[in-house]
Amino acid sequence: MLDFELRNFRRLREEGLAAFRAGRRREARLTLLRASEALFRIASKSDEPFRSERSRGARELLGLARSISGEAPAEGVGGEGARFVPAERPAVTFASVAGLDEVKEEIRLRMVYPFLHPEAAARYGVRTGGGLLLYGPPGTGKTLLARATAGEIDAAFYTVRPSDVLSKWVGEAEKNVAALFAEARARPRSVVFIDEAEALAPVRTGDAGSVMSRVVPQFLAELEGVAGRGTNALLFIGATNAPWNLDPAILRPGRFDELVYVPLPDAEARAGILALELAGKPLVPEADLEALAAALDGYSGADLRLVVEKAVGESFLSEVRGGAPRRIGVEDLLAAAREVAPSVAPEALKRYEEWAGAA
Ligand SMILES: Nc1ncnc2c1ncn2[C@@H]1O[C@H](COP(=O)(O)OP(=O)(O)O)[C@@H](O)[C@H]1O
Ligand SMILES: [Mg+2]
Repeated sequence: MLDFELRNFRRLREEGLAAFRAGRRREARLTLLRASEALFRIASKSDEPFRSERSRGARELLGLARSISGEAPAEGVGGEGARFVPAERPAVTFASVAGLDEVKEEIRLRMVYPFLHPEAAARYGVRTGGGLLLYGPPGTGKTLLARATAGEIDAAFYTVRPSDVLSKWVGEAEKNVAALFAEARARPRSVVFIDEAEALAPVRTGDAGSVMSRVVPQFLAELEGVAGRGTNALLFIGATNAPWNLDPAILRPGRFDELVYVPLPDAEARAGILALELAGKPLVPEADLEALAAALDGYSGADLRLVVEKAVGESFLSEVRGGAPRRIGVEDLLAAAREVAPSVAPEALKRYEEWAGAA
């Protein structure tokens, strides 16, 4: 009986969100209202913990439905419907990310193991999903890791760019945020990723724009409810190169459960990155990437990618000019590295490390 009602509810919610994406606002509003009613009814017949979880979901849907007015949006705010980000299915997995083993394990703890071992997870009271804030110097793989997380656990991936929220979504930001989270929660697994998080939740200056002052608290509220015990899991990942510019409110416990420092790669990770970037390229078979990696202290992952790109380009040119096939050797890579200065200056690095120590 409840099964039938749940199926009916899910259908209504899907239809309502689809109508919202397509810009059919009246239909979206009505269908989401019906979805919310259906979920309230189901909640009233459910036992804990499902009862509270479902009531909460129903209240969210109700809020979303109410926020959708019947009229078409005003000119100039992108009247073509689908304004919130569509889900992606990134093809990269953890195998494409060198190092960062502790972060990967933390992510598995929240998003993989509870589903592989549901009985143990219940006994230990392990909660799924939650919020992770990745911070550290630029080019260290934060964006890559977020995408790879979704690929690793076959989750729907939503990227929220603060610049979109603050400009493209003008006047629609709250509705789009609500719709985004409603859709993400409806999937078995999802990752909502906010890149450049400091732009969305900057230290409040008092004269913050009105969109910002309305949207930031909404994100904070969505964050509070991310961890759960249900069968669906949502992981919220924020990334920032400038953690000191973040509104301290976003760092309070219960929002991001974990602040994770993503440092410059160590020698082992550098060797891993070089190997990943060189995969499939004509490389001298005996090239000692570990020795090379040891010599490139201070290079970020993005710097190393640049080094490889340069060496590949040079080697290709020299083959084309010389007319004979050749292979990339450690010498070529070292020559390229001499032209690529590490992008993270020592003073900058010190600032990250100090912030990490204090956080
Ligand atoms: N740990 C890593 N493993 C593999 N590649 C990396 C790593 N860190 C950086 N890279 C390379 O550098 C590029 C830029 O990294 P990115 O994820 O955009 O850094 P961030 O978001 O921290 O600024 C990646 O697309 C990848 O090619
Ligand atoms: Mg990035």
